[in-house]
Amino acid sequence: MFEVKHRDGLARICSFETAHGTVETPAVMPVINPNKLVAPPKKLKEQFGAQIIITNSYVIKQSEELREKALKDGLHEMLDFDGPIMTDSGTFQAYVYGSVDTNPEEILKFQKDIGSDIITILDRFTEPEDNKELVEEKVRDTIQRAEDAVEEYGRSETHLSLPIQGSIFTELRKDAAEGISKLDAKAVYPIGGVVPLMEDYRFKDLAEVIIASKKGLGPKGPVHLFGAGHPMIFSLAVLLGCDMFDSSSYIKYARRGDFMFPTGTRKLEHTYEITCDCPSCNGRSVEDFRGMDEDERTKLIAEHNLRQMFIEIRRIKQAIRDGSLWELVERRCRSHPQLYEVYEILKKRWRFLELYEPRSRKSALMYTGRETLDRPAVKRVQRWIMNEYQPHFDEPTFLFKVNENEKPYNRHLMFEISEIFKRTEADLLLSTPIGPVPMELDEIYPIAQSIFPRGMRDEELVNEYLEKKGIDDLLVWDGIESLSSVENGSSGNLDVMRVKTVANYQFGKGAGEVLTDGQLRFVKNRKGRVKNVILDDEHILSVRHYDGFFTLKTEGAEILKDHFQAPYLRVKVDDDSAEFNRKGRNVFSKFVLNVDEDLRPGDEALIVDKNDNMVAVGRMFLAKDEILEYDTGMAVRVREGIEK
Ligand code: GUN
Ligand code: ZN
Repeated sequence: MFEVKHRDGLARICSFETAHGTVETPAVMPVINPNKLVAPPKKLKEQFGAQIIITNSYVIKQSEELREKALKDGLHEMLDFDGPIMTDSGTFQAYVYGSVDTNPEEILKFQKDIGSDIITILDRFTEPEDNKELVEEKVRDTIQRAEDAVEEYGRSETHLSLPIQGSIFTELRKDAAEGISKLDAKAVYPIGGVVPLMEDYRFKDLAEVIIASKKGLGPKGPVHLFGAGHPMIFSLAVLLGCDMFDSSSYIKYARRGDFMFPTGTRKLEHTYEITCDCPSCNGRSVEDFRGMDEDERTKLIAEHNLRQMFIEIRRIKQAIRDGSLWELVERRCRSHPQLYEVYEILKKRWRFLELYEPRSRKSALMYTGRETLDRPAVKRVQRWIMNEYQPHFDEPTFLFKVNENEKPYNRHLMFEISEIFKRTEADLLLSTPIGPVPMELDEIYPIAQSIFPRGMRDEELVNEYLEKKGIDDLLVWDGIESLSSVENGSSGNLDVMRVKTVANYQFGKGAGEVLTDGQLRFVKNRKGRVKNVILDDEHILSVRHYDGFFTLKTEGAEILKDHFQAPYLRVKVDDDSAEFNRKGRNVFSKFVLNVDEDLRPGDEALIVDKNDNMVAVGRMFLAKDEILEYDTGMAVRVREGIEK
C-alpha cells in the first residue's frame, strides 16, 4: 500500500507498506555491500534512522558463501536487519563490466528465494551516449522483462521494482514510464540510468528525465531515483515527485576522504576547519582526521555522510509540511552552477508543475532571487490577472506604487481608498514585485502571503497590462491632489469588488457575478474585515483569514452548481459514498467516479452523486489523477454534508 499523507505540489510524504514494515517516504536507502559491512544495518536503523536498506542480489549470488547463507537463512537474518530490504539485480554491474553471469528469470527468482521485500528486474541500463535505436531496444526489453516479472510474481507479497529507462530521450522516458505504469502489480518505480548524469553534474538532463518519467507514470509510487545518493539533489528530486533514494556514495566518497553536505562536497585535503558537529565530527580536528588510520577515517566520514543524507531528508519533510519546499530547492540550486541551470527546466515545465500546485500554502512565499518569480504559484496568478481579469469600470484606474513592508496593501491604503470611493467608483491597481495586481486580490495567496525585497516592482508588466486592457485614463496616485479632477457622483465598494474578483479567480469566470446577484450583506469582525458573505439572507461564503480565499457554504455551492455545468468543480462519488458524505464524512479515493480536471489540491469542491445531486462540500486533498489511481486514502476533506 502506498498512501499520500502530506503534500506540496508533486512532493509528498507517503506511507509505503512492505512485508517487513512501513516506510515513510521520502526515504533514503543506504546501500549495503554484503561482502563488507562498513556499518551494520542494525546500527543504521538505530543510530541513523534508516527505515529501509538496499543490497545487491547479484553480488550475493556470485559469492558461494553468501549465496548459500542467504538461501539457507534468508536475507534478513544474513544482514541482521528486520526492516524492509530491497535488492538490485546486476543491471549496474552489466553496465560497468559489460555483461553479467545471470539472466532475467534466474536473478528474479534468486531475489525471491532469499526473501527480499522488493525485487528488481534485470533492466537494461540506458546510457547518455546510446543512440536512439539502442535506447528504444533497451526500453522495449526492459518493459518486456517487467511484464514477465508481473506475470510470474505480480500476485505475491513481494514488491516488484520495475525501472524506467530511456536515457535522455524524454519521449522515450515518458513512453517507458507509461508502459510500466500500466502493469498491475505491487511495485516500486525506479528511474534508472541516471548515475552517469549525476556523476557528470548533468542536473538539467536529470530534471528533464524525472519530469518525463513522472508524466508517464502519473501518480504511481513510490518513485525511486536509482543510484542518486548525494544530498545536494534530494530536495530538487522530491520537488519533482521522487520518493526514494539509494546511496552507496556515502562510502565511496568516504574512501576518497570526501565529506558530503547538502550544499556540495568537501575533500579532506582541502579542509582547514571542521564545519560539522555531528557525532563523527564533534571534537575532532582536521589533523585528527588526517592522522587516523584509513579504515577509521573511512568509517567516520561514511557516518558523517549518512547523517547528512538523513538530515536533509528530514529537512525536506519539514519543508513539505510547512509549504516551503520551493525555497529549500531554490537555495540548494544556488550551491552549484550546474544545479542552478535546473531553473531553466523548472521555468520551462511550469505548466506541468502547476497541475499539482496548491492554491495556497501554510507559509509565505519567500523571495530567494529572480527565479522565485517563475514559480508556478506566481505564474498562475500573474497569468490570470493578465489574461482573465476584467476591470470593473470603464475608467478611471488609480495606480498605487506599494511598499512590500505594508501588506496586505489595502490596509495601509484605507484612507486613500475611502477618499477615492467617496467621489467615484474606480479600479484600483497595485504595482507590485509580481507586476500589476487589482486591489481586490491583495489578500490572497501569494500576494499578501509573500516576502519580497522592499521597493521591488515590475513596471514593465504593469505597462503590458495597461495596454492589454486598453486603459488610457490612468491616475498614478500621488497624494490627495490626484483626486482634484475626479468627482462623478457614484461611490465604490471594495468589499463587493473583492467578492466578485476573488470568486472569479477561485471558482472560474462568472462565479463572482452569480455569487453577488441579489441582496448582498457582509458580516465583519471587529477590525472591519469581512468574515462572512450573505446573499439574500443566506450565508454563502466565509473568508479564510489566512489566505484570503473563500470556503463554500452549501448555499454558495448550490449557486455555483446551478451556474457551472457538470463536471466543472465537481467530484462525483458512487451511491455508497454519497450516503456517508451526506453525513459529513470524508470522500475516499476508492469511491470516486470522476473529478473535474480543473480542481487542484486545496481547492473547494462540490461533491455530487451520479445524478449530479450535491451531497457535500469539501476541500480537495489529492489531485485528480491521484484520486482516480489510488485505492486507499482520503481524496476530499468534507466540511459540510447535505442531508436529504
Ligand atoms: N543502479 C543504478 N542505476 C540503476 C539502473 O538503472 N538499474 C538498476 N537495476 N540498478 C541501478
Ligand atoms: Zn559531520
